[in-house]
Amino acid sequence: MAEKGINKVVLAYSGGLDTSVALSWLRETYGCKVIAFIADIGQNEPLDRLKDKALATGAQKVYIEDLREEFVREYVFPAFRANAIYEGNYLLGTALARPLIAKRQIEIAKREKADAVSHGATGKGNDQVRFELSYMALNPDIKIIVPWREWNFKSRTSLIKYAKKKGIPLSVTQDKPYSIDRNLLHVSFEGGILENPWTEPPEDMFKITVSPEDAPDKSVYMEIKFENGDPVALNGRKMSPAELLSSLNKIAGRHGLGRVDMVENRYVGIKSRGVYETPGGTVWRIAHKAVESITMDREVMHIRDSLIPKYSELIYYGYWFSPEMQLMQKIMDEAQVNVWGTARLKLYKGNCIVVGRRSHRSLYHRDLATFEEDEVYRHKDAEGFIRLNALRLKIQTKLKEAM
Ligand code: ARG
Repeated sequence: MAEKGINKVVLAYSGGLDTSVALSWLRETYGCKVIAFIADIGQNEPLDRLKDKALATGAQKVYIEDLREEFVREYVFPAFRANAIYEGNYLLGTALARPLIAKRQIEIAKREKADAVSHGATGKGNDQVRFELSYMALNPDIKIIVPWREWNFKSRTSLIKYAKKKGIPLSVTQDKPYSIDRNLLHVSFEGGILENPWTEPPEDMFKITVSPEDAPDKSVYMEIKFENGDPVALNGRKMSPAELLSSLNKIAGRHGLGRVDMVENRYVGIKSRGVYETPGGTVWRIAHKAVESITMDREVMHIRDSLIPKYSELIYYGYWFSPEMQLMQKIMDEAQVNVWGTARLKLYKGNCIVVGRRSHRSLYHRDLATFEEDEVYRHKDAEGFIRLNALRLKIQTKLKEAM
């Protein structure tokens, strides 16, 4: 229960129902000062209004920070260099944002001499794990207060009742029949009407993609240029990481790319239905793999591929700040040193089709792939190559025959 002697708490605040109630509840329960931290990671909310709201809800001070470039450069880029994807479908939009928010909270707590940090995630999800593993990794001594695991509210209805009683301003978006988490990489939807995995999401739920049916009848071409495995230019124009991702989102979203509807395994052992819109990330990953296909050594690629599930699991589970993640990232980055080049894509009604790839560092040699006899690749060598590789297969069969 409520530990006393807490003076000041830094709360990761979004302005939604849960964090609003958390803000007011922390003040009331602990009698402490609450600093609301609002991270702008591209959730597309009017931030000054959020600031007023936090102050009206009782925050002593509000920090608003534009973390969009840092989010894309330091979190999304490393993950996409590794082609990270969880359970074959989820591009980890929420999982990548949590460690950044946690890191800034810990830094603000230090500057403000706060003794605790807090978040509004529930006791059933992944986000609590991601926040708290990050807090503890970055500051082993920080106190962590988790309202959702302490208070007695059992439902959204009781949260809303409390909010009304306390005069906390509520916005209409809080009536949405599902929970939304949005940033520059994706929009995620879960809970509410989506909890039945047989129920198709309503079309008006989606925020940054059109359905393939509503996409233009005309395709669009685009070129993405990569250096060291990172995208640096779109259609020949150099762009900053956040700029590039938002441009990709616009084009790909307009053409119906990047919707995913899945049931995923949460770290806490629950299966959960999630619906995602990741338009830019989806075409980015396809383009990246196209450039890798001509610039990456075969065995390096195969070893790297075998590590993707493990690497992605670390992100999903919340181990961004861990020694095993540091090791994995070194391996992933080392595999990208030759990944320079451009992919050409065609987007059409929910499809992203690779139509070209080129690189000054290409390992693809036309003269090796063609059927002309040449010096480097001698057809006759293939005979011995196959015969030696077949040796153990022959021995197996001979043994079976003899038995
Ligand atoms: N299921 C996804 C994940 O675990 C998205 C979570 C979205 N979070 C939220 N509070 N709505 O990463």
